[in-house]
Amino acid sequence: MKTRALGDLQVSAIGLGGMPMSIEGRPDESRSIATIHAALDAGVTLIDTADAYHRDAGEVGHNEELIGRAVASWGGDPSSVLIATKGGHLRPGDGSWTQNGDPAYLKEAAKASAKRLGVDAIGLYQFHRPDPKVPYAESVGALADLLDEGVIARAGISNASIAQIDEANEVLGGRLVSVQNQFSPKFLSSRGELDHCARLGIAFLPWSPLGGISKASGLGGDHAAFAKVADAHGVSPQQVALAWELSLADVVLPIPGASRPASIQDSARAVDLELSAEERSALDADA
Ligand SMILES: NC(=O)c1ccc[n+]([C@@H]2O[C@H](COP(=O)([O-])OP(=O)(O)OC[C@H]3O[C@@H](n4cnc5c(N)ncnc54)[C@H](OP(=O)(O)O)[C@@H]3O)[C@@H](O)[C@H]2O)c1
Repeated sequence: MKTRALGDLQVSAIGLGGMPMSIEGRPDESRSIATIHAALDAGVTLIDTADAYHRDAGEVGHNEELIGRAVASWGGDPSSVLIATKGGHLRPGDGSWTQNGDPAYLKEAAKASAKRLGVDAIGLYQFHRPDPKVPYAESVGALADLLDEGVIARAGISNASIAQIDEANEVLGGRLVSVQNQFSPKFLSSRGELDHCARLGIAFLPWSPLGGISKASGLGGDHAAFAKVADAHGVSPQQVALAWELSLADVVLPIPGASRPASIQDSARAVDLELSAEERSALDADA
């Protein structure tokens, strides 16, 4: 598995997104564990989760606990795996997603995540989404405190603008290691943030890199150039999309979600798919 930098670490260039295994439509636990083990066996060493990846109100941290259990029961070395979690987004249980960027809340949420993951320090803690009710610098200031206190080892942000990336990096004293924004052939609106991260040498983690849980299977139908390149290589259009994202900058680490072993096995192979300059141009034009 090819690796890329995430702060001071090298992790697999393709990560695993945990959300489909914990929200509405999730599979049974045995299939989820098999999916996580398949990812780890394929060389994936980056798993993205969040305390808010759960379905019902009373099960905050469902995905963190699931991933923690799966990594612990895997035959390999758990210390080789970076579990990246997030805080600041909440699911009250009615299907909605709300925000809480209050610094005191974020600090408690991070400590609860560390406990659920069974770690002294969270490998990467990301502020999930800006809260319009709280000045951004105050929310990110909580991450600076958490770094200083050793509750988290690395800090990242998500759903951030270019201005917020700069503000967060300043508040963190240059210690911002990652930005996680929506990016796929279907959603290109964070291209500016991707390029900004490339300039700064900060990891950029595209979320919903295949267009999202409900749209991922239709990627080839929606983007003919991706289907054409896939046919030429005998691979899936989804694998082409991930290889195309990897080709945009060295800081890009897509985190495709999966709830089946075959999905993440196929996605992990994107690191070895070489795209020609001609193919990249055709994909750029169709995205
Ligand atoms: N920061 C944020 O605000 C935010 C928001 C949304 C998501 N995320 C993160 O980003 C991750 C990825 O996003 P996502 O899960 O929403 O969407 P996604 O990665 O675009 O799509 C996930 C779906 O793609 C399917 N899939 C994966 N690899 C495939 C392949 N090679 N071929 C065919 N189908 C494939 C999976 O199907 P199966 O289920 O059948 O395996 C899965 O349900 C999430 O899991 C989460 O960790 C973050």
